[in-house]
Amino acid sequence: MQNPLKTVVFPVAGQGTRFRPATLATPKELLPVIEKPLLQFAIEEAVNAGAENLVFISSEDKPGIATYVGLPGVAADCHVTVVNQPEALGLGHAVLCARDYVRDQEFGVILPDDLIFGSTGCLPQMANARERNGPNLIAVENVALEDTSRYGVIDPHHTEGSKISAKGIVEKPDPKDAPSQLAVVGRYILNTSIFDRLATQERGNGGEIQLTDALAGDINRQGLTGYRFGGDRYDCGNPGGMLEATIAYARQRADLSETITRCLKTAA
Ligand code: G1P
Repeated sequence: MQNPLKTVVFPVAGQGTRFRPATLATPKELLPVIEKPLLQFAIEEAVNAGAENLVFISSEDKPGIATYVGLPGVAADCHVTVVNQPEALGLGHAVLCARDYVRDQEFGVILPDDLIFGSTGCLPQMANARERNGPNLIAVENVALEDTSRYGVIDPHHTEGSKISAKGIVEKPDPKDAPSQLAVVGRYILNTSIFDRLATQERGNGGEIQLTDALAGDINRQGLTGYRFGGDRYDCGNPGGMLEATIAYARQRADLSETITRCLKTAA
């Protein structure tokens, strides 16, 4: 890794209500795609981006997260910290809870619900593409117009290769108000200046402290760039996306590809 990203933060305090009853006792990030938990894919992606310091923002009713990441071999040789978010105040607040554990000027954030398959992981691609102490960098992809209300959406300014400089970003806009169809997916490389912004920020969409609002507030000072990554993204925060990810993963696997092809043929 030519430009390693040493610290990666994993916001994992969400309740996973779309996966009840499984999530009554198992954190949604530990639900498996075949045998591998979503969180394990995220950890491996972080390690491939050069991470040595992993920070998990969990909640006290999800003790399984701390148990899992403490198991031998799960987090490679990384230094691991688990912090409990005291209240469910949103993604921005979760990221702010990592403040004392980020030692470098820049850090990565992975939302494990967004599972991305590709020949190179999404965060390693972004780590290599970033400028040191450059603009905040966020993974983006095109979504259908009717889906803009599920994502942060950027207002693009100028495109150069895979990078799109943004002049604005809004959280979950109505399709009629969306500045584009370029949606933020769950990978970020942030400058630590974001923490000051998050610490003083008012609540936004859904009454939560939104990371999107902090990125918008920092555009003039830090800048903001969207990054079109290579690979396929699956929204494993909902059952349909989890099913698609499971099929895609089975197809990649020598031991399962025949079975999945047969099943899909029978079902067709
Ligand atoms: C969060 C962010 C949103 C982003 C999305 C990506 O929303 O707030 O900007 O587009 O993750 O998955 P959530 O899915 O937690 O509602």
